[in-house]
Amino acid sequence: MVRKITSLGGYIHEYQKSVENPKAFWEQQAEDFYWRKKWDNALEWNFEEPSVNWFVNGKLNITENIFERNMFLRKNQTAIIWEPNKPDEESITLTYEELFRKVNQFANALIKIGIEKGDRVIIYMPMIPELAIAMLACARIGAIHSIVFAGFSANSLEERINDTQAKLVITSDEAFRGNKIIQIKNIVDEALVDCPCVKNVVVVKRTSGKINMKDGRDVWWHDVIKGLSEENESVEMDSEDTLFILYTSGSTGKPKGIVHSIGGYMVYSAYTFKNVFQYSDNDVFFCTADIGWITGHSYIIYGPLLCGAKTLMFEGIPTYPDAGRLWEIVDKYKVNQIYTAPTAIRSLITYGESYLENKDLSSLKVLGTVGEPINEEAWHWYHDHIGKGNCPIVDTWWQTETGGISISSLAGIIPTKPSFATLPLPGFQPVILDNNGNELSGRNVEGNLCVKFPWPGMLRTIYGDHKRCKETYFSKFKAYYFTGDGVKRDEDGYYRLLGRVDDVIIVSGHNLGTAEIENAINEHPLVHESAVVGYSHEIKGQGIYAFVVCSELSTGGEEGIRKSVIKGVTKIIGPIAKPDKVQIVKELPKTRSGKIMRRILRKIADDDFTNFGDTSTLLDPELVEIIIKGRVK
Ligand code: WT7
Repeated sequence: MVRKITSLGGYIHEYQKSVENPKAFWEQQAEDFYWRKKWDNALEWNFEEPSVNWFVNGKLNITENIFERNMFLRKNQTAIIWEPNKPDEESITLTYEELFRKVNQFANALIKIGIEKGDRVIIYMPMIPELAIAMLACARIGAIHSIVFAGFSANSLEERINDTQAKLVITSDEAFRGNKIIQIKNIVDEALVDCPCVKNVVVVKRTSGKINMKDGRDVWWHDVIKGLSEENESVEMDSEDTLFILYTSGSTGKPKGIVHSIGGYMVYSAYTFKNVFQYSDNDVFFCTADIGWITGHSYIIYGPLLCGAKTLMFEGIPTYPDAGRLWEIVDKYKVNQIYTAPTAIRSLITYGESYLENKDLSSLKVLGTVGEPINEEAWHWYHDHIGKGNCPIVDTWWQTETGGISISSLAGIIPTKPSFATLPLPGFQPVILDNNGNELSGRNVEGNLCVKFPWPGMLRTIYGDHKRCKETYFSKFKAYYFTGDGVKRDEDGYYRLLGRVDDVIIVSGHNLGTAEIENAINEHPLVHESAVVGYSHEIKGQGIYAFVVCSELSTGGEEGIRKSVIKGVTKIIGPIAKPDKVQIVKELPKTRSGKIMRRILRKIADDDFTNFGDTSTLLDPELVEIIIKGRVK
């Protein structure tokens, strides 16, 4: 099993080792896994191209490391606990052996359908056990999964299907989400109108709602697995073969298909899981994220299952049937570690503490957060009311691109400080650069968060666009990976994340590119142009503020445009990207050279009218006053 750090001294020692000799450090971690053939060289890299190869020529299958490797000790131990949306529906527990059989059987179904090593498979599903089974079955046969969060629109789904050129989509008839039923198969049908690459759709029956099954293309999950063997010989993969593609927003319009490879991701997700959460055998781990995001990939599925953990998968939402649901689940399964987002905590705070009454939370040992900086109020509430003052909080900083937790306290080992992610994981080497690329060493410095050495979990490329990978992450600061985040190192050497320095906003812990939202708004027939910025939002962390210029007003007037703009974004991207505020403006503040002055719009959106900085390059300085007057409160 992956080595666990158990003391602060141990952390300091490991960290030093990992920096002095990163190759030897990661080789030692990788030794704990099952490789069909050992690597020739632990690492070959350069950040110019960039080209990063971990465990070069090593051969393995990640599912062999989850199943065959764990089977000896954990055959009859719980692997996945599944809690349904409705509390009175029966939950499901799958042992390692049961899960293994189901993965094998579905792997055999994939083979029958004609999916081969290297093929891409899109998974668009609610949080049901078949989602976990589907992704692991892909990995078993060497197919590349690309999971699309089921809250995304048909448009966004179509874009991702076409970008990956997937042959197969796996979905369900409908999805339960709180008191809503979402017609997800219909969304898939709509997306597939323009996806000639897709030959088949596998559909899980979840709600039994009425849906259309297209002859020759669509098959039911329960039909396709019928009579298939529960044994399957896994496909031998190279350490650097792609495990999955996961899309994330960027500062330009098109989402980026982040590519993760097998060997490095395996070692990194398992190592960080075990150490950050201090997982011990038989603990029950509950990550509340959706598997459609990287958090769910790394900390519901891969990290925990590689470590032989008991991982909880929850289909529903924290406020259904009421705001006590998460705590009810903690009580029901005696959860030991819970991992959620600051936005969820802030939202639950508004419902008050009555939802905590009669909930036994004494099993909890560790509380985790991810997605954005956790503000002090939320931190203290989490600490006092959920952890009862006894549980360390791990504020985990990382990204879809980093593959696993990168800066974080290790629970109970690295002393915490509210709103600080604290210190880097062993093997992760952050640096702070000023805007000219100078490294700011020492304490009390602030600048751009970069990384100077590869770590195994890092992205390898952007699918189909290596040039964009280089430009986005490896060009702004030569020979460094650039995270896009601002950061401060304080007098104790602790890291405090300061938010994005580019045009990406973090809304309810989700990463959204403002350009992508603008593109969606601009599709509106009456919209001439638009600018989207983030503003501080009490619950969501950041809210979405859209400034919109219209060529004319529709019969519904400004209110009509506002509504249809919001509707349009929901349709094109999905509800997560829906603007909170839409202001119709005559013009956007631009420089003489035609560049929108977002800095000013950000301040207006934040109700901060002081210090607009240098406005001398503005084409029409009077415009600013007009926009301020018309702002949406
Ligand atoms: C961006 C990455 C990694 C899973 C969830 C989001 C922000 C993430 C923290 C944190 C401050 C954080 C950063 C980062 N972020 N965690 N603990 N403190 N900021 O993944 O969608 O790829 O977003 O989320 O700005 O760059 P993602």
